[in-house]
Amino acid sequence: MKVDLIRNVADARRVAKRTLPPVVFDYVDGGADDEVTMRANEAAFADVGFRPRMGLEVGQPDLGVSVLGYDLSFPVILAPCGLARLMHPDSAEGAARAAAGRGTVSVLSTVAGAPLERVVPEGQGRVWFQLYSAGGRADAETLCDRAAKAGVDVLMVTIDTAALGNRERDKRHGVTPPLRLGPRSTVNLGYQVLSRPGWTWRMARSGVSMLRSPPGARPGAGSGGSGGSGGKGDGGSKRMLTMAASPFLWSDIAWLAERWKGKLVVKGVLTGDDARRAGDSGAHGVVVSNHGGRQLDGVPATLTMLPEVVAAAGDQIEVLVDSGFRRGSHVVKALALGARAVMVGRPWLFGLAAAGQPGVEQVLDLFAEEMVRTMTLLGCPSVAELSPDFLNPV
Ligand SMILES: Cc1cc2nc3c(=O)[nH]c(=O)nc-3n(C[C@H](O)[C@H](O)[C@H](O)COP(=O)(O)O)c2cc1C
Repeated sequence: MKVDLIRNVADARRVAKRTLPPVVFDYVDGGADDEVTMRANEAAFADVGFRPRMGLEVGQPDLGVSVLGYDLSFPVILAPCGLARLMHPDSAEGAARAAAGRGTVSVLSTVAGAPLERVVPEGQGRVWFQLYSAGGRADAETLCDRAAKAGVDVLMVTIDTAALGNRERDKRHGVTPPLRLGPRSTVNLGYQVLSRPGWTWRMARSGVSMLRSPPGARPGAGSGGSGGSGGKGDGGSKRMLTMAASPFLWSDIAWLAERWKGKLVVKGVLTGDDARRAGDSGAHGVVVSNHGGRQLDGVPATLTMLPEVVAAAGDQIEVLVDSGFRRGSHVVKALALGARAVMVGRPWLFGLAAAGQPGVEQVLDLFAEEMVRTMTLLGCPSVAELSPDFLNPV
């Protein structure tokens, strides 16, 4: 079983690399421009050390948290990621089942490649919906209505895509945003697909043909990466093209907050000022995120911006964080700095690519196990008691 090969997130990445055609692996693994921010995200954890307490009776550390009204068995959430279907036929549905089964939640991307009506029921009430701005307010209203009807409570609005990030790995494969293939890349892709027979076989059996339909290029065709969570012909690729042309403004967030009956979260905030704006616009939470280093290269690692955002948020809004989290100990550091929970993107995509739904479960289990060990060694009995006192700046 490929799951047995996954002993940490780096292993999941290695197996995913061997499993996926390079064009798909690089789409997931890559960042923007020189990937400075992407590397900084992961490197930042080395600059924050621990300050443990010895000789205390800790027992089994309690990882449970309440996030936006949801009780989570541990504070790791699956971040919204487009084109999950290209990893494995289990796709976003498998991720939703994995997260719910482990007592946490998954966030379904607008461009996940599967209609939200199909994914949300798989998550047993534990799927949130991420909204991109594609067709302006009318489109947002339609998607929100569908999400609410499907039973979604938490809407996560992504605000850091005023332009699409410059992902040069994709370009090197001859792929241009939104993952459209030119003649050269079609030949290239044919070779890549042949070099990954296991993946090709799984995709063919589930009706996904990258050769006929490059990721996201044929909206609504029911093939790989197309047909966003919007589904029904308003596919992922069209959204990815147009969302950059009509980014959400704070006035749109206020407008959404008035209409959305559940909780609203703004994803892609990096400063205290923007966290305050999110709160003033009616949001219940923010995600400190640089999109995993896939958008503006040169912005700081999210861990370094977290204290500023936590201070600005105060008791008004909840603070989540993502980008670069690969270990349970990384999650513990962010919680000690005041985050309510952490989201992970590439880790679950790698797990999905490596072994389908069981691969996502394995990645979640690893985060939980590593958190328990870290907390025990720290001498901290529950995540509620984590504070900066447990940290030691290097
Ligand atoms: C392949 C891929 C696709 C993504 N698609 C989306 C998306 O559709 N919507 C969104 O808000 N963020 C998207 N993200 C960003 C993630 O939600 C998250 O912010 C990021 O992956 C966190 O960094 P990490 O991958 O280092 O964990 C995507 C990230 C990746 C790697």
